[in-house]
Amino acid sequence: TDIPILTIDGPSGAGKGTISRAVAQRLGWHYLDSGALYRAIGVAAGWADEDLADHVALMRLAFNTRIQFVTDAGHEPRVLVDGVDATHELRTETAGAAASAIAAIPEVRAALFEKQRSFRQPPGLVADGRDMGTVVFPEAPYKVFLTASAEERAERRHNQLKQKGLEVTLDGLLREILARDARDAQRAVAPLKPAPDAVLVDTTGVPIDAVVERVLSLLPESL
Ligand code: C5P
Repeated sequence: TDIPILTIDGPSGAGKGTISRAVAQRLGWHYLDSGALYRAIGVAAGWADEDLADHVALMRLAFNTRIQFVTDAGHEPRVLVDGVDATHELRTETAGAAASAIAAIPEVRAALFEKQRSFRQPPGLVADGRDMGTVVFPEAPYKVFLTASAEERAERRHNQLKQKGLEVTLDGLLREILARDARDAQRAVAPLKPAPDAVLVDTTGVPIDAVVERVLSLLPESL
């Protein structure tokens, strides 16, 4: 009960992953990448050729799929889905779209609820997602909602993908981001919205280091 939690929610491309990881590292806390769980189930559903209309089958899949985060010092964390290294597949736009589609299914969200809660371990947790502060950890004492303009978010995604050697147009990305935002914000269950007690942090034009400091400044010095 006295394990501190910092939730960092916001739309895709606001910098949640980078910021959350850096803040968790600075604090020496655990890190939950909840989007990776949804991506993993989206990818597993594709592997199993599941019908997206079959909510019961997808719920079973979400309960039964083993998702492991492997961190070797000095390396990018890897994600194993039922023992298979899916790190790269999970980062693709296809996996993001699959995640967004299955994330709208209440049974899938329910199945992932306890999995997410189990990341709450001493000495603390930084939880990154869409509904960390509103649904999964409403009791969290520290909540941030990260935003950035859609144009800047599309540009960041574009640069990330270019570095990985993937060719996509900026226009296409912007359209995908706006479509995904709309779907995430309008869905009936756990829509993307700031918790009433979240602090809004706009990262448009703000360097990563400055955002990390801003987020850390919201926590008491004693942590
Ligand atoms: O954060 P990331 O882009 O990896 O998330 C992929 C998708 O998973 C999001 O577009 C969203 O639909 C879904 N998601 C969610 N709730 C979370 C995290 C992710 O619905 N807590």
